[in-house]
Amino acid sequence: MAGAMNEPFTIAVDGPAAAGKGTISRALAARFDMGHLDTGLLYRVVGALTLTGVDPVEAARGLTAKDLDRDDLRAPNVAQAASKVAVIAQVRAALVDFQRAFARRSGGAVLDGRDIGTVICPQAEVKLYVTASAEVRAQRRFLELRGKGLNVSRAQVLKDVRERDDRDMNRAAAPLRPAEDAVLLDTSQLNIDMAVAHAIAVVENKRQG
Ligand code: CDP
Repeated sequence: MAGAMNEPFTIAVDGPAAAGKGTISRALAARFDMGHLDTGLLYRVVGALTLTGVDPVEAARGLTAKDLDRDDLRAPNVAQAASKVAVIAQVRAALVDFQRAFARRSGGAVLDGRDIGTVICPQAEVKLYVTASAEVRAQRRFLELRGKGLNVSRAQVLKDVRERDDRDMNRAAAPLRPAEDAVLLDTSQLNIDMAVAHAIAVVENKRQG
């Protein structure tokens, strides 16, 4: 039962780096005609600003929707900077209201990140935890970055992904972990069409009660 729904409906998509959250979330948003927020971009903006000397907490407090259009946010050094500022509790706190307001927008919303199902939207109607082996995720990210013309090595991308996962899972503030009621989706053996089909089926089940 796809199509117009005016009441809020939140789909939380969490998981480690390059697991396919973004692709799955965009596909869900298109299929169910909902808004989509890639919450990693918020941390990437703050990370990018710290690389130019801005204080991370100030950067998070001053963030606006327009900042999410910066074109340097996918760079590997920005991803690392993002995961470093993401350990700071005041940075995370400054970004909560923006995310929650988006989550409850009329017509429904898909948010992807690390702590959507656990901290930002523990009442989300649907929670997915998307994962895959580190090698598979690094290979996908390698191809994606190469496709954007960035000169990266496979080994460096794998090292970056592992470092970031480690930092994200072991921080004190909102560590990456599946919510107790999340549906696990391991995409190691799935192509993107299969992963999207599976995610759509999970959402349709929930919407039909
Ligand atoms: O695209 P990818 O999965 O590699 O990363 P991202 O989702 O853009 O997130 C970049 C970094 O932001 C992550 O490594 C996390 O440290 C942080 N992040 C977070 O702490 N909480 C979120 N809800 C989203 C991202």
